[in-house]
Order: sequence, then C-alpha cells, then structure tokens
Amino acid sequence: MCGIVGYIGAKQAQQILLEGLSKLEYRGYDSAGLAIYNGEVIQIEKTKGRLKDLADRLSVSELTGHIGIGHTRWATHGKPSDQNAHPHTDPETRFAVVHNGIIENYMELREELTAKGYHFVSETDTEVIAKLLADVDDGDLVSTVQKAVSHLTGAFALGVINQAEPDKLVAVRFASPLVVGVGKGENFIASDIPAILKYTRDVYVLEDGEMAVLTEDQVHLMKTDGTPVKRKTMRVTWDMETAEKGGYDHFMLKEIHEQPQAIRDTLSGRLKDGLVDLSGEISLLPQEIFQIDRIQIVACGTAYHAGLIGKYVFEKFTRLPVEVEIASEYRYRNPIITDRTLVIVISQSGETADTLAALREAQKSGAKVLAITNVVGSSVAREANEVITTWAGPEIAVASTKAYTTQLIALYLLATYFAQVLGTKDENECREVVKSLQQLPVQVEKTFDCETEIKELASKIADHEHLFYLGRGLDHAVALEGSLKMKELSYIHSEAYAAGELKHGPLALIEEGIPVISLATQESIFEKMISNIQEVKARGAYVVGIAKEDNTELQKTVDQVIYIPPIIDLLVPVLTVVPLQLLSYYTCLERGFDVDKPRNLAKSVTVE
Ligand code: M6R
Repeated sequence: MCGIVGYIGAKQAQQILLEGLSKLEYRGYDSAGLAIYNGEVIQIEKTKGRLKDLADRLSVSELTGHIGIGHTRWATHGKPSDQNAHPHTDPETRFAVVHNGIIENYMELREELTAKGYHFVSETDTEVIAKLLADVDDGDLVSTVQKAVSHLTGAFALGVINQAEPDKLVAVRFASPLVVGVGKGENFIASDIPAILKYTRDVYVLEDGEMAVLTEDQVHLMKTDGTPVKRKTMRVTWDMETAEKGGYDHFMLKEIHEQPQAIRDTLSGRLKDGLVDLSGEISLLPQEIFQIDRIQIVACGTAYHAGLIGKYVFEKFTRLPVEVEIASEYRYRNPIITDRTLVIVISQSGETADTLAALREAQKSGAKVLAITNVVGSSVAREANEVITTWAGPEIAVASTKAYTTQLIALYLLATYFAQVLGTKDENECREVVKSLQQLPVQVEKTFDCETEIKELASKIADHEHLFYLGRGLDHAVALEGSLKMKELSYIHSEAYAAGELKHGPLALIEEGIPVISLATQESIFEKMISNIQEVKARGAYVVGIAKEDNTELQKTVDQVIYIPPIIDLLVPVLTVVPLQLLSYYTCLERGFDVDKPRNLAKSVTVE
C-alpha cells in the first residue's frame, strides 16, 4: 500500500520527508521518491527499491528546498520501476503529485489526454492526475486541483505541489487515508500518523471528499467543491509503537478492523452497471471460458480455506466441477490436468513455495493458471497467466485475516463473472449477488458489535485444552478457518468438523463442558445443524452458536448465540469469520501469547 508524506515550512524538506517515509515502511513498498521545489524548479528523485536506495541517490544529488512531497509505492498499475515510482509530473514539471489508491477511470482519461497530445512515460494510473492537472490548469492551484479531482473516480489520497504557487501544498482524500499535521511555522501531510509524530501531535484526519490547503503558517480545510470545513485538530497521545498500529494493540486487531475498507478496495473498479466486469483485468476470452471443463483451486492454510468457499460458489454458479487441493499435496501427486483445466492458485504473499510449485506443475501440464494474490509483482503474480489482485494492503500479523476476506471477495467476483459469461445464472440473480457484495463493508462494520461479547467468551474458553468448531456446507469451510486461527494463536487444540460427520468418530471426544462453536447460518440445512448441535449438547458440551440476527430458533438449543447482521447465505462466510478471528485474538491475549508472531510460524513460507 502506498505511503504519502508532504512538508511545507522553514526547514529543509528532504530529511523530513525521508524520515516520514521510513515510518510508513510497514505499509509495504517497492519504490520511493521525492519532489522538492528549490526556489526555481521542482526537482524529482525516485527509484525502484528501498528507501536506502533513494537516500543513496540523494547523497549524490541532494534536493534542497522547503516544500516537498514524498512517496513509497506499492505497485498496482505497472511493475516496480524507476518510471512507475512517484512523484509523477506533467510534461514541464509544473505539477508534481503523489497518490495512494486506485484511479478507476484512468484508462479513459489516459486515452483522452493522449488524444490531446500528452505523452505518458509510466504505466501508472497516477500519471493521468499529473497530466490532468496541467490540462485543466487555470492559474490557481486550489481550483485546478478541484477541477482535476472532479474527473477522477476511484479511491485516492493525493499530495500536490505546483511550481507557480510554491507556497502551497494541497492534499485531497477520497477513500484512502490522509492526515494533516499542524506544526509551528510548518505543516505536514501523511498517509498515517507515525510519519509526522516526531514533529507534531496535532492532526486533522481528512474525511472523504475533503481537501487541505497547507501554507507554512496555516491549514485550510474544505470540501472538494470549495465549501469550508470547520474542525478542531485532534491531539495524538499515542507513542510511536501504538501509532504504527493505528492505535490498536496489535497488527492483527488493526487488520481485522481494516476488513471493511479492504473489501471496498477489492470490489472497487470491478462492478459495472450492477454486474461484475473483469474484462479489463483478465484476458480470458468468453470462448476460452466456455472451453474450461473443470476448475482446480490450489493453496495453503488460510488461502486453502478461502478456496473451499470458492468451490461452493463456483459449482453453484457455473456448474463446473471444482476440486480444492492443498498445494503441498497437489504438486507431488501427479494430478489430472488438461488444457481445459483452469487452475486457480490463491496466495496472500504470492511467494509460498508449495503454491508456486503447484502453479508451475499446472502450467507444465498445459493448464492456464489464474492467481488470486495480494502482492503485485510477487512470484505467483509474475508467473500466472491471469491475476486478480486482492487489495487488502500489507498484512503484517502472521495470522491471516483481511487477506482471507478479500480472497473470498475475489472468488465471488470471479464466479459471478464466469456465470455471466457462461449464462449459467440468471442475470437478475447475478445482480442480487452484486448488490449484496456492496453491502458487505457495512455489514462487516456491524459485525464488530459482537467484540465485547467475544472478549468475555474468550476468557471463558481460554483455560480449555480442546475446542470444537462445527458447521455444514459453507459454515463448515468457515469453521475450518476459525479452528486454524485458534490453533495458531492460542495453541489450544481445536478441531473443525462437518457437523454431520461427528457421529462417525469424533463425537467420542465430546465431554462435559467442552466448548463447541457451532455455525448455523445456512437456511437450507438449519434443521440438520440443530440435530447435530443436540448431539453435542446431550453430551454436556458448552455450545456457542453463530447465527444471523433474524434467527430466533438457535437460542432455544445452545448456551449462547453470537449474532451476525443479515446477508444472503452465500456471502455469510465474510461475516461469520469475523467473530472467529476476534475469538482467537482475545483467547491468545488471555493466554498471554504473542498475537502478531505466533511460535514456530512465519508470515511467508518460502521453503517446502
Ligand atoms: O501467503 P499465502 O497466502 O500463500 O500463505 C499461505 C499460508 O501460509 C497462510 O494462509 C497461513 O495459513 C496463515 N498465516 C494462517 O493465518
């Protein structure tokens, strides 16, 4: 995820911008750059690589000046390279811009600007903003930015400087974070508070559709239509470490709470006229989709669990047979693959050794591989034939949370898109799914209401040595993920079972007081699930049910119910996983273990 910083004041900007960027490194990046006005011109230095590479270049040719912007880039449009690194400029370097987010209509704008004679030097969506600024320039920086922004759709936070008005730094926010730091005789912008905490604790947190105009001594807030915004600064009392976690105690909790935004970002640009449109992203032609006679989904760990949901969704929507396999098994078992097989690999990091090997194995056998990954430019992304990126942003906690929910979103989008192309689902049904997908960010927010209850539940189960998770259908797939989370974080032995399978063996393990988390959200199999719950209740289990909030039946059978907001059954996993993530988080805390770095585990498993 890109990071933005900006400075205007009496000091030299270069060092402040570099230090600010170093505090945003946690967001992940592949290149970095600065633009500083030196009293005559805007000078740019940018490079692929680490901040150290940028600092090395600057040690040879220092950028002097008191106003500037800086950026760490996490590639979205175009590979990591010097050309694609920010800041971007117009042809005469009158404007320099840094951007975090995605401009959805950049192709359209690029074509229009190219037709007007603008020449593009990068593959980025950001460069259209710089050229657009030059195109609509009316001699006033603020109104020029307002005009340019009115042409943009998507998510963006921007920092802009202009050679003609070097006493102003302009910042804009639309759905990507941006804060303004207020100092004495100096002011700042940044994607996140840690970048400016060394200089000031007084900040404005910009809201969507707002902009800030910074001079050395003042900050003016307004909406992008010019309406003034009056707000008091917020005093930040966090220390640096807390600030890096956005005020949360751990990265995992922060990432759990980032899920609504991550889902919004992953949906962004992929819905058109009430349907899914991936035609600009994947090059599979309709006739090639018609050729597919089976799908294999291959992944590890949490990504594998997302694949299990994918199986349900694809089979329901496309009636194509889908197998889901653990990558470390798939790669060695000589699977049946033909040139009509579509292999979908799922990997947050894009570097998991087994998943990468499975990808190569599938390609060797003639299959096309479509990757769902969170890291642009990762090995998986580079080697796959098709890529759908999840826009979860960097996931730092070892336990995967927002990567999982965005993988689900990618799978829902892909399956719906295939159904539209193949005509295997009625268009109205596809529209219903799209509508419900759009409700998800808000419904995930509402799901957080259960956090206090989950905390109490965690203290109840923390002393147990064994735990069970039960579910049927999609609920079973989510139960597996909940159980994995619990194992890796709390080190409690936990099992997830398809509820109907319990009586074929594991029921023998159920004894007085054992906690059993039972997911019962799927209407068509609800009665069956109740019967299975009764089986464990009869043996003395403490049963915690998870149900949709309109369900009044479950509470009659279980000891406690955690409710999730309403959503169509198919999309329920995106909501039910949230209380399970929180339960493992709080149980881990109760037991006093390291949440973000569980023992024996690594974030990216690049060895077999
Ligand atoms: O980066 P990947 O998605 O390929 O990683 C796969 C697994 O190692 C990963 O999902 C792991 O299971 C999670 N960290 C568990 O929370």
